[in-house]
Amino acid sequence: MRIRTFEEYQQAYKKSVDDPINFWAEIAQEFEWKKPWIKVLDGSFEDASTKWFVGGKLNITENALDRHVREKPHYPAIIWEPNEPGDEAITLTYKVLHERVCRFANVLKKNGIQKGDRVCIYMPMIPELAIAVLACARVGAIHSVVFGGFSAKSIADRVNDSDCKMIITTDGAFRGAKKIPMKETVDDALIGCPSVQRVIVATRTRTPVSMIKGRDVWWEEEIKTVSADCPAEVMDSEDPLFILYTSGSTGKPKGVVHTTAGYMVYSAYTFQNVFQYEPGEVYFCTADVGWITGHSYIIYGPLVSGATSLMFEGVPTYPDAGRFWDIIERHKVNIFYTAPTAIRSLMGFGNEFWENKDLSSLKVLGSVGEPINEEAWNWYNTNIGKGNCTIVDTWWQTETGGIMISPLANITKTKPAFATLPLPGIQPELVDDKGEIIEGNGVNGNLVIKFPWPSVIRTTWGDHQRCIDTYFKAYPGKYFTSDGCMRDEDGYYRITGRVDDVINVSGHRIGTAEVEDALNSHTGVIESAVVGYPHDIKGQGIYAYIIIDHMPHDASMTRKEILATVTRIIGPIAKPDKIQFVSGLPKTRSGKIMRRILRKIAEGETGNLGDTSTLLDPAVVDEIIAGAKEL
Ligand code: WT7
Repeated sequence: MRIRTFEEYQQAYKKSVDDPINFWAEIAQEFEWKKPWIKVLDGSFEDASTKWFVGGKLNITENALDRHVREKPHYPAIIWEPNEPGDEAITLTYKVLHERVCRFANVLKKNGIQKGDRVCIYMPMIPELAIAVLACARVGAIHSVVFGGFSAKSIADRVNDSDCKMIITTDGAFRGAKKIPMKETVDDALIGCPSVQRVIVATRTRTPVSMIKGRDVWWEEEIKTVSADCPAEVMDSEDPLFILYTSGSTGKPKGVVHTTAGYMVYSAYTFQNVFQYEPGEVYFCTADVGWITGHSYIIYGPLVSGATSLMFEGVPTYPDAGRFWDIIERHKVNIFYTAPTAIRSLMGFGNEFWENKDLSSLKVLGSVGEPINEEAWNWYNTNIGKGNCTIVDTWWQTETGGIMISPLANITKTKPAFATLPLPGIQPELVDDKGEIIEGNGVNGNLVIKFPWPSVIRTTWGDHQRCIDTYFKAYPGKYFTSDGCMRDEDGYYRITGRVDDVINVSGHRIGTAEVEDALNSHTGVIESAVVGYPHDIKGQGIYAYIIIDHMPHDASMTRKEILATVTRIIGPIAKPDKIQFVSGLPKTRSGKIMRRILRKIAEGETGNLGDTSTLLDPAVVDEIIAGAKEL
């Protein structure tokens, strides 16, 4: 399974295209199965019916825990670095993690959870979060992790969409200097969540919380009442492992569904090959488990591979902007995986935060979530990598389950700002808007994947047609990524960004329609249009044009109130960076907002706005341009 040279990569790639069935079968054999599969691949992209390792039986936690407990019980599985730098880090060996997962799995069963039930997890980055995720997988419950920064309403929408029976949370969370309520937010969400019968609360901040009789129980009490022995549930290869909600260009966030075997095989295969993890090394991914990166590359990929995964509770700027580098020095981190937005933000804090840190343990630096600009790539390479580390710019998506286009560390020749080459098993293609394939090199187009890979999205929870329509309809027989992409003269891929109405803010996906809905619910807001614009640190910022019923006397107060509404409805990550009050929006005669024009104005372009002759009221454009200049 492990590729060690560029030649081996080329051979593996060729085999994966010529003979995908045997290619993946050989890799899948290296895992532990309760019953082997009957057919490697079935179904088709046309109706989003892809199935992998059909008929196989397994449990992902036996692969992530039991087999390592047998071979190396005292090897560190998770190193947990708490928010407060003075507090001691905690190491959970595979044996200890296994025991805690089994114990908590029994708590789930005792509280009525059975195979196939949905469990919502709303927790900060503490070991109990990883334990809760794995315990769900142990008993065959489908976990739905909701990022701790989302609002009560966002939790309620997600819980209701998949009828979660339980929520696992904490009293509160530490994030830098802040203490954030968690249980209280869950309580607000639960006002509108009839399916939830049980709430399990782990203690973190010792914030007083209300505990409802018959519904709420404490984690610490429950684990005392059960045994530490919990045989793993027998799961089918295609049984859902988890749901993770993500934003698209229209409507509410979709519940992306990943299934057991294909996801396991692909997350572990890509972890091992992209990062080239060696026994004894410490791997640190800075993502939150609330996003797909945390699922695939903090929990499943590393643990299924028997690696040591460092999990950090806090933020990169607490107590100061040297925190990541301090963690790397103290834990002798070998592989570090973060987002361009973090790099760009830390670049700005000055040399004293990294110059005096010993970063010599580092071997591989990863980047994920958004295009990494050359300046950030070079800074990362020179100042953190000291020119001795390989940078893996990994392109993938919630829907792809694992890394798709990326260098293999120290194997693939890198190029700043390029995700370089597809991993074995991944067949990218560039197409134009009509669906014509764009051949050759030195070209640009829409990125599609023309052949199934094991961790491709299986469905969107509760609405299979939406999955077909969103990903498999635009280019029949192919998976559409919604990303634009260039292929340069060397055949290297560079992702240029979304081609749909999704904004990538600090590596987080935000749907413009969702933000508009939140804005429109604010009193006085008649209509709004949201676009992305280039932002030095965040990659993209959110720019909102708002028609308001009367111009406010105190515009800054109104702006603050509108931001409070967005925070209440979605969460602070969706707050617009700029709000411009306008008297009208550029619309065509048929009433369609011309976002292209709004995007250009938000980017600061006022000269060449293209054809505006189809606009109902061209004068509105001049007014918006003038207003934008004053902002
Ligand atoms: C979107 C997916 C994949 C985990 C984190 C984000 C953008 C992701 C890169 C990269 C350029 C990237 C794409 C993609 N993206 N990685 N290395 N270079 N763009 O997952 O929230 O599902 O977002 O993030 O636009 O479509 P996500």
